[in-house]
Amino acid sequence: MDSIPADPPVGEAAALLGRARRVVVLTGAGMSAESGVPTFRDALTGLWQRYDAQALATPEAFRADPELVWGWYEWRRHAVRQAVPNPGHRAVATIQTRIPGTVLVTQNVDDLHERAGSPDPVHLHGSLFAPRCSACSRPAPVPDGTDGEPADGRRVPPPRCAHCAAPVRPGVVWFGEALPPVALEAAVEAASACDLLLTIGTSGLVYPAAEIPQVAARLGATVVQVNPEETPLDRIAEVNLRGPAATVLPALVDAAWGDGPTG
Ligand code: OAD
Repeated sequence: MDSIPADPPVGEAAALLGRARRVVVLTGAGMSAESGVPTFRDALTGLWQRYDAQALATPEAFRADPELVWGWYEWRRHAVRQAVPNPGHRAVATIQTRIPGTVLVTQNVDDLHERAGSPDPVHLHGSLFAPRCSACSRPAPVPDGTDGEPADGRRVPPPRCAHCAAPVRPGVVWFGEALPPVALEAAVEAASACDLLLTIGTSGLVYPAAEIPQVAARLGATVVQVNPEETPLDRIAEVNLRGPAATVLPALVDAAWGDGPTG
């Protein structure tokens, strides 16, 4: 690096990133917060502060009231469609370009990484854009959203599967469900083989996702965290960058390579 970055922890993290050869980036809801997509556990705006997860995000809830659950996820998908990637998403895409082979693992069910130029994130918790049949699991078309703006709390009957006529369900992982095995395996394998894991905007409270940085640390990788708040991952992080992703990540990329994010 030519110049000494103004913020010492950013400079330290940039030096680590600049030397890293095999990188995993793990993102959580904080990554998309500045795009206007709410997190789950933040004190005022978190979804689980305002909504009952048991009534909306469990297989039992969908069986009991499919219209309520489908309507809630329609509302969330609509909100994500209105959102745009923030400079943090673009900085992650830049890291992937700068360090080929970087594996992006996200707990987010939005598509903002893809829209920022990250080609193939591992979606640990599924996607709002991958509905499937609740009975035969075949993929179902994503509703095009032309039937008006879904309102918060509006009940919407789920479409029926074209093959078996069972209700279509959101393609996300609900409480009490296993993570998609292929995604989990890819994430654990990448974490086991990386030399640096960058964790961004996750509370580190939800397992098994929270295990991924711990696997990396146990096997000798350096962990760098971006989060404005303390989390249980603080103790395994070599550097904690306390700030919002949309500000910290472009500064990190700039300090590492001197040209800011692309796109
Ligand atoms: P949480 O809502 O638990 O945590 C969000 C984290 O983002 C917190 O640690 C915040 O401090 C941090 N944060 C907030 N704003 C930020 C910003 N601008 N930049 C960086 N960080 C910021 O979200 P997750 O950890 O992603 O699962 O939650 C994990 C899982 O719990 C979710 O995938 C979801 C939820 O239940 C399922 O739906 C299966």
